[in-house]
Amino acid sequence: MPDYLSWILLAVAGGAFAAQPEAPQPIAAPLRELPWAQLNFLHTTDTHGWHGGHLQEPSFSGDWGDYVSFAKHMRDKADADGSDLLLIDTGDRIEGNGLYDASEPKGQYAYDIVKQQQIDLICTGNHELYKANSSEDEFYFTVPNFKDGYLASNLDIYNPDNGKLEPLAPRYKKFTTKNQGIRILTFGFLFDFQGNANNTVVHMVEDTTKEDWFQEAIRDRDVDLILVFGHVAIRSKEYDHLFKTIRSVQWDTPIAFFGGHTHIRDYKTYDSKAAALESGRYMETIGFMSISGLHGTKSKKPNSTSETDIYDDQTLIKGPKFARRYIDNNLFSLYHHSGKNDSTFPTEHGKNTSIMISKARHKLELDSIRGCAPQDFFLNRAPYPHASSILSLLELNILPDSMAKAPRVDKEDKKAIVLTNTGAIRFDIFKGPYTHDTEYLVSPFTSGFRYVPDVPYDKAKRVIDLMNNEGPLFDDIAKLTGLEKWMLLPPEQYQGRKDVHIEPVVESESDTQGWLDTIKSMGQTILRPVIAKYGDKKKDKLIPGYTTQDDLGNDGDDTVHSRIAFYNVPNCIQSPIGFNPSDEDDKPKEPEVVDVAYNEFIEAWVLLALKYLGHDVKQEDTAVFMQKTMTDILTEWVQEAWPPKKGKCG
Ligand SMILES: *[C@@H]1O[C@H](CO)[C@@H](O)[C@H](O)[C@H]1NC(C)=O
Ligand SMILES: *[C@@H]1O[C@H](CO)[C@@H](O)[C@H](O)[C@H]1NC(C)=O
Ligand SMILES: *[C@@H]1O[C@H](CO)[C@@H](O)[C@H](O)[C@H]1NC(C)=O
Ligand SMILES: *[C@@H]1O[C@H](CO)[C@@H](O)[C@H](O)[C@H]1NC(C)=O
Ligand SMILES: *[C@@H]1O[C@H](CO)[C@@H](O)[C@H](O)[C@H]1NC(C)=O
Repeated sequence: MPDYLSWILLAVAGGAFAAQPEAPQPIAAPLRELPWAQLNFLHTTDTHGWHGGHLQEPSFSGDWGDYVSFAKHMRDKADADGSDLLLIDTGDRIEGNGLYDASEPKGQYAYDIVKQQQIDLICTGNHELYKANSSEDEFYFTVPNFKDGYLASNLDIYNPDNGKLEPLAPRYKKFTTKNQGIRILTFGFLFDFQGNANNTVVHMVEDTTKEDWFQEAIRDRDVDLILVFGHVAIRSKEYDHLFKTIRSVQWDTPIAFFGGHTHIRDYKTYDSKAAALESGRYMETIGFMSISGLHGTKSKKPNSTSETDIYDDQTLIKGPKFARRYIDNNLFSLYHHSGKNDSTFPTEHGKNTSIMISKARHKLELDSIRGCAPQDFFLNRAPYPHASSILSLLELNILPDSMAKAPRVDKEDKKAIVLTNTGAIRFDIFKGPYTHDTEYLVSPFTSGFRYVPDVPYDKAKRVIDLMNNEGPLFDDIAKLTGLEKWMLLPPEQYQGRKDVHIEPVVESESDTQGWLDTIKSMGQTILRPVIAKYGDKKKDKLIPGYTTQDDLGNDGDDTVHSRIAFYNVPNCIQSPIGFNPSDEDDKPKEPEVVDVAYNEFIEAWVLLALKYLGHDVKQEDTAVFMQKTMTDILTEWVQEAWPPKKGKCG
């Protein structure tokens, strides 16, 4: 093992952890140190309400209160050695966890919890903008809560008080860091998102860079660093364009980018003086980036605390040096990087924040049990179709069982094909309690199911092929509605992943085929599949987890893990409903017409697909198929299929 790795044994002192009381204890693992330097950043993105941490995964069991404590220690460290620390959050703070979604109105507790962290730079994600009322919450809560740090370089809102279109927050700002006196010019962007409610206006990044204020701002030569943060993938046309535009007028100024949206850990080098960090999703990751060799106006040499003096004149001449680390958000990692332990780590403010979270979780009854999952079901950690795929469970069991109760099928004896996009599922189901919280983790979306009646079967059955193939359907939809293909998929698949490795399935193909045959012969009964094993085939002692590959190599993760497999899934899946095999020939009889039902979210695609197939219908011709959201459908199915015993899971 390389010597920069150290095994640190956790002194378990009777469970006096901060975190949430229900959270599992972290597991000791080999760690890589933080490359602490002159200017340091902690970065969160796409937290989606997971401020309570992960209650079923030890690697990510830290909560927002632990992050408050951690940031305090790291700020103290910066003040002590004369370096600087900035905290950044790049949006999608809402939707995807009971802590946000389970209250009515949504977010009743979440804004005050997020506010407890002192975030220096913050911006909006697409999720804050899907609904008019959640973007108004940004206007009324998050913007004032982070008054000096909220930026909106390409986002306007119709002010809910006077109806006037105005920037949600300042377009940019310039400031000087506390200890080093580094002069920073900074922007806060959102990618070219067009699926927002009509009370906000997102300006295309390319158009924004042509505006006078932007052109003027980037010509300021009295800056030591340009910092672009945003809800933007770091490998995207938007950031490429921003890099080129800024670099064309600042040939030598260091540029740091912070991004999000695609839910991955990633680091990109643009040139020798420009780099970008993306820090994952769901509070799994606290991203760390550092830069040394910057010119600060307070150029006093601070007390050196490390062997290599990052501030010496040589580094200044050589130019900036960027480094990164992806911290697994658990107390084992946070204690180590802050040099604290059980008793010295939690700050009063951090503990208060954990208590706020705990109280909100109890008020919202997030731990109340809906059912007990008999095994794990994965979105991307298992292939599709497969016995451990949550999509197979949905397609073969949940949708058929639930949709058979739709009035059209149940009362009118119609047959239907039900389609949903795979992005409607956001997270895995783990063996054990399926709680009120799990409902929102797995699918927080509020759209219901609609249908097109009586479509010729030969056309209806081809809709799925159009939805799942690259082709003109997606270009046309993008032109017509601004809706893009990525919206159908799990975010982790929005772009080619670099932090994951596709490994062959452990079972042979014939085993999988056998399993599929079994399922078919079982009809619509509950899956009782074979136990499948993933990842960690080497059987080494490492815990499975992130093994990120980025532009600096494969040593970015703070915790050394064994690999977890990642499998791409299609855009959409479908289930036939009400097709009973006839007794004689054991084959479902093909109907002449069926209803084409679908998750409302994908309506525009389905209607256009039908049009391509020669069945042109308008939105007015569609109707409600089932007045239930995916969240409700999953919950009701779990309650029936996996009931707890005496309110508990065994
Ligand atoms: C840094 O150096 C100054 C002056 O030499 C000294 O007063 C201060 O205590 C030192 N701080 C630390 C954290 O060592
Ligand atoms: C927005 O309005 C819907 C419908 O009234 C409500 O269910 C939801 O909680 C509201 N969300 C927010 C963020 O206020
Ligand atoms: C947004 O759409 C609603 C109807 O869906 C309409 O009443 C409202 O005026 C529109 N707002 C703006 C700013 O265009
Ligand atoms: C934690 O660290 C403090 C200060 O270094 C030390 O006094 C204390 O004994 C440690 N506690 C534990 C439980 O290790
Ligand atoms: C923590 O909460 C206590 C009790 O509500 C309060 O008295 C104290 O001021 C809070 N401290 C911080 C740092 O928030």
